[in-house]
Amino acid sequence: MDFTFSALYENSGQNELFNKYREMMLNSEKFVFIVPEYNGSFPGVLKAFIDGLQFPDTFKDKKTALVGVSSGIQGAGLALSHLTDIFNYCGTHVLAAKPKLMHIESNMKEGKLSSLYQDLLEQQAEEFVKF
Ligand SMILES: Cc1cc2nc3c(=O)[nH]c(=O)nc-3n(C[C@H](O)[C@H](O)[C@H](O)COP(=O)(O)O)c2cc1C
Repeated sequence: MDFTFSALYENSGQNELFNKYREMMLNSEKFVFIVPEYNGSFPGVLKAFIDGLQFPDTFKDKKTALVGVSSGIQGAGLALSHLTDIFNYCGTHVLAAKPKLMHIESNMKEGKLSSLYQDLLEQQAEEFVKF
């Protein structure tokens, strides 16, 4: 939980707990990011996480799928666009299908998604397997 102070910049590679995530990301070919909307974009701590990963090998020619989540009506659409630019800069290809799950509180009851959102995620998963 303290990685922004102990795993970035001159401390890169020195936080053993964070290194597990660095290794996991480095050794994976495909990622899925579930991204909440924070003040019209994605959470700053997610950017700090990305900044703490090994560059460029973590990202080069990798593939990622993005899912947006928000309380309001945007479904983190802008957040996903911002994040797409960053992943593309880093060399990661982003699946075009990016479900935007707006009004998440009224579409998730007792841990279960509405059937529409469930369908959108299943379609995305099918496309991501082929991607
Ligand atoms: C700091 C903060 C900023 C937020 N900003 C927005 C926003 O701009 N638009 C929106 O629709 N929801 C916003 N929300 C609501 C979150 O998108 C929503 O609660 C989401 O489910 C949070 O996911 P989390 O619990 O994984 O952080 C914000 C929540 C927080 C904590």
